[in-house]
Amino acid sequence: MSARERCRLAVFASGAGSNLRAILAHAERNPDWPGQVVLVVSDKPGCGATDIAAAAGVPVFAARVRDFADKAAFEQAVLNQLRVYQVEGIALAGYMRLVGPVLLQAYGGRIVNLHPSLLPAFPGRTAVQDALAAGVRETGVTVHWVDEGLDTGPVIAQWRVPVFADDDVDRLWARLHRIEHLLYPVVLGELARQWKQHTADAGTAADG
Ligand code: GRF
Repeated sequence: MSARERCRLAVFASGAGSNLRAILAHAERNPDWPGQVVLVVSDKPGCGATDIAAAAGVPVFAARVRDFADKAAFEQAVLNQLRVYQVEGIALAGYMRLVGPVLLQAYGGRIVNLHPSLLPAFPGRTAVQDALAAGVRETGVTVHWVDEGLDTGPVIAQWRVPVFADDDVDRLWARLHRIEHLLYPVVLGELARQWKQHTADAGTAADG
């Protein structure tokens, strides 16, 4: 698949970046994967994800929100970069911030997130701890559309993961991460194919 045929993706991350690594590795192993990560955006300069991006030769935009007048100004700076890199779809992968109106207006319907629970159960940052504390026997991983809420957008895909009696947070996290690394690149590839098709159809309509 040529670069022109691939959907240009941005990955947003604030943390270790293991999902970013999994997406990049999946793309590398599968030449027909319909996406291409053209930009990594982070609100935590120097986090693991930005190191992974730099090592892979992927351009990075990393800046702290507090260095801008407000969140809208930060998002406007992000949006400018998304436009420079002609980004067509956005995958949040451990981006620890609510997406605000500036980005939602520009990319609504083309932003997805990955969450370590079977939403709507256990939204928020402590999903894994909350599942353990609740004593559930099963949790999972969700890919969902991003809206203005905290992990509230419609579900796209879910994968169930068992919780064992002797699990602690680290063990459960490790199991969830393994599933995330398998699920997210596959779902993202399918979305990338759809987003690209949509762009192509819009182009054809404009031409006609
Ligand atoms: C992932 O487990 C994801 O579910 C959550 O944040 C975590 C990011 O992990 N939203 P990593 O930075 O990709 O390793």
